[in-house]
Amino acid sequence: MTDAVQIVLARRPVGDVTADCFREEKVTLPALADGQVLIRSRFLSLDPYMRPRMTELRSYTPAFELDKPLTGGSVGEVVDSRNPRYAKGDTVMGMLNWASHTLHDGKGLRKIDPAIAPLQAHLGVLGMPAFTAWYGITHICKPKAGETAFVSAATGAVGQVAGQLAKLAGARVVGCAGDDEKCQWAVREAGYDACFNHRTEHDYGAVLDRLCPQGIDSDFENVGGKIFHAVFARLNNFGRLAFCGAISEYQDAKPIAGPAKMFTIV
Ligand SMILES: NC(=O)c1ccc[n+]([C@@H]2O[C@H](COP(=O)([O-])OP(=O)(O)OC[C@H]3O[C@@H](n4cnc5c(N)ncnc54)[C@H](OP(=O)(O)O)[C@@H]3O)[C@@H](O)[C@H]2O)c1
Repeated sequence: MTDAVQIVLARRPVGDVTADCFREEKVTLPALADGQVLIRSRFLSLDPYMRPRMTELRSYTPAFELDKPLTGGSVGEVVDSRNPRYAKGDTVMGMLNWASHTLHDGKGLRKIDPAIAPLQAHLGVLGMPAFTAWYGITHICKPKAGETAFVSAATGAVGQVAGQLAKLAGARVVGCAGDDEKCQWAVREAGYDACFNHRTEHDYGAVLDRLCPQGIDSDFENVGGKIFHAVFARLNNFGRLAFCGAISEYQDAKPIAGPAKMFTIV
């Protein structure tokens, strides 16, 4: 039996997520059953997809249950095991509870080598966000030399990898981010050719016309909403769109209309 602290979903947020949506609980976990592993959390990733999961809106992942611990991609240490695949002392990643300790059935866990990189890198550049970027760029956007690739949320966990992969593929890469410092980082460190601040630029069409004079051949879409509409209107013939997410819309109670002139995809 182990004493643990966990965070449960106390109520479903409307608009901004506030502290009263959560409740901290002290629980005593039962002794391990056959096949179970007890994991102590070391790092928990807080990701945008968690916001839609806090509601009952249809999403690409099922809703969190009220009064149950939320879960998220995590790295932890096995502190006890009755599963032959995992031993005490192993470092693992997988979906763990928002909790100090999780009793886990071992399904979907992956052992990681703590010597190869800081543990938290397995939740970022060595983990799900980077795999997401790799899939969208390699299998959907397929940018190449002579083309313009656009990436929204250019410096986020997914976007910064998507932008670098598009650049490595030889495309001219343009992105947007939420402040000047991030935009400078995108160009200086991540190799973007240009990045605009979506908070100080208000006419997205005009800024895209300036930064993407040849139009846009591929869009790795993380933000949705007005930025996406402006990008969509500038997609070239045979343009590709990896619609990875729409973070600007996750708090909207009602879905917003799609981009104008949808028939241009024909
Ligand atoms: N389909 C999948 O399997 C999958 C997997 C992973 C992620 N995703 C999606 O990919 C997107 C990025 O995820 P991430 O892990 O990179 O997230 P992240 O590291 O948390 O970055 C998200 C960034 O989005 C920007 N943003 C937030 N609200 C915005 C708004 N209203 N308008 C414009 N920009 C806004 C912010 O950057 P700025 O301050 O720079 O604007 C924020 O830092 C999300 O939409 C997520 O849901 C999808």
